[in-house]
Amino acid sequence: MKAREIRPGIEWMGAIDWKRRLFDELIPLPDGTSYNAYFVRGSEKTALIDTADPDKSDAILAQLADVDRVDYLIIQHVEQDHSGSVPLILEKYPDVQIISSPKAKPMIANHLGISEDRVQAVEDGETLSLGNWTFEFIHAPWVHWPETMLTYLREEEVLFTCDLFGSHLATDDLFSEDGSHVYEAAKRYYAEIMMPFATLIKGHLEKLDPLDIEIIAPSHGPVHNVPAWILDAYHHWTHDEPKNLVLIPYTSMHGSTSLMVEHMMEALNDRGVHVRSFHMSKTDLGEYAIHLVDAATVVFATPTVLVGPHPSIVFTAYLTAALRPKLQNAAVIGSYGWASKAAENTKALCANLKVEWMEPVFTKGLPTQETYATLDKLADESATRHKGLESGE
Ligand code: FEO
Repeated sequence: MKAREIRPGIEWMGAIDWKRRLFDELIPLPDGTSYNAYFVRGSEKTALIDTADPDKSDAILAQLADVDRVDYLIIQHVEQDHSGSVPLILEKYPDVQIISSPKAKPMIANHLGISEDRVQAVEDGETLSLGNWTFEFIHAPWVHWPETMLTYLREEEVLFTCDLFGSHLATDDLFSEDGSHVYEAAKRYYAEIMMPFATLIKGHLEKLDPLDIEIIAPSHGPVHNVPAWILDAYHHWTHDEPKNLVLIPYTSMHGSTSLMVEHMMEALNDRGVHVRSFHMSKTDLGEYAIHLVDAATVVFATPTVLVGPHPSIVFTAYLTAALRPKLQNAAVIGSYGWASKAAENTKALCANLKVEWMEPVFTKGLPTQETYATLDKLADESATRHKGLESGE
C-alpha cells in the first residue's frame, strides 16, 4: 500500500498485515493487524515516527523511495513489530538522528544491535522543532514495555501513541471515524496488552487530559480522527467497577464438567446474573480476555487430569492471573475419577489474583442431584455478591 495522507504534511506509512494470525506466538489475530509508521514534513526538518515489523520492511522502504532526507527517526517503542525495520532505515539514511526515551536507549542497543551513540534520549516534556511545527515527547512507561513514549505534534494537535489506543485490525479504512467497526478489536487489544497495566494507564490518561487532541495516531489499526470514542472507551475500561457478569472458562473430557457448566449457567441466569462460558480447548484467548475487562466473577470448570486441572485450564488460570483483571470473586468446579487436587492447584495458579474464593464444587464421575444442589448454592452466593453491580450485558 502507498503512503496515505492524514492531513497536509503528515502521512501514514507502514503495512497492513492481512494474513498474520498470531502475535508473540500467543495472541490470536482473527482480523490480522497493521504496523503504522508516520512521516511528518516540517518546514525545516522531517521525521519518521516508528517503522514496521521486519517482515514488512519492503513496504515502508517502498513508501520512502522518493524521500531524500529524513532528519529524525523517533522510536517510541522498541518492540520489534515497530522497530524491526530500523536497521534498514539507518542504511538508507545514515545521517538520521534517532530519538527515544532514556529507557529505550540501551534497549535499542540490546534488541537491534544499534550503538547507543546513535541515539539522542529525550526527557518527558522535552520538545523538538521541525521549523513550523513542534514535537512534545510524553513518557508513558508500561504501555506495555517500560520505555514507551508518546509524541504530540502541538500545532496540529496530533498525538502519536504507538501501542496505546491501538487495535489488531487489518483494514483499508485509514480512519476509525465513530469507532463502530473498531471498538471490538480495540477492546480485545486493551484486554490482551494493556489491562495488566491499567493502573498506570489511568495515570497516562490523566496526563493527556489537558491536551487538545484532534487526531490519535496509534501504531496498530486505524487512525482515530474522532478521538473521543477511544478516549472514552479507555476511561471506562480502566475506571469502571466490574459488572454483573460471571465467566466460566471450561473444558470437559467425558461430559461431566460440561453438565455442571450447563447447570451453573442456568442457575445464574435464574438469579439475574449474566454469564458467559468459554470452551477453552476451542475458544481463542482474546474472546475470553475481552470479557475479563468487565466480569466480577470467574468460575474455572475443569475435569481432573493426573490429579490436577486439565492443561487448558492450567493455561487459562495462569493467563487470567497474568492479565490482572478487575475480578472480585472466583471459584473452581469440576469432576474427577478417583482423586483430585484440581481446585487447590487452580487456586495456586491464581495466587496474585485479588479475589475472594468461594467453595469449590466437585463431583466424582457424573454430577448427581447433590452436585446440582451444591452448584445452586454457589449460584446463590454469586448472586448475593453481585447485588448492586451494573448490568453485565
Ligand atoms: Fe505493537 Fe508492543 O508492540
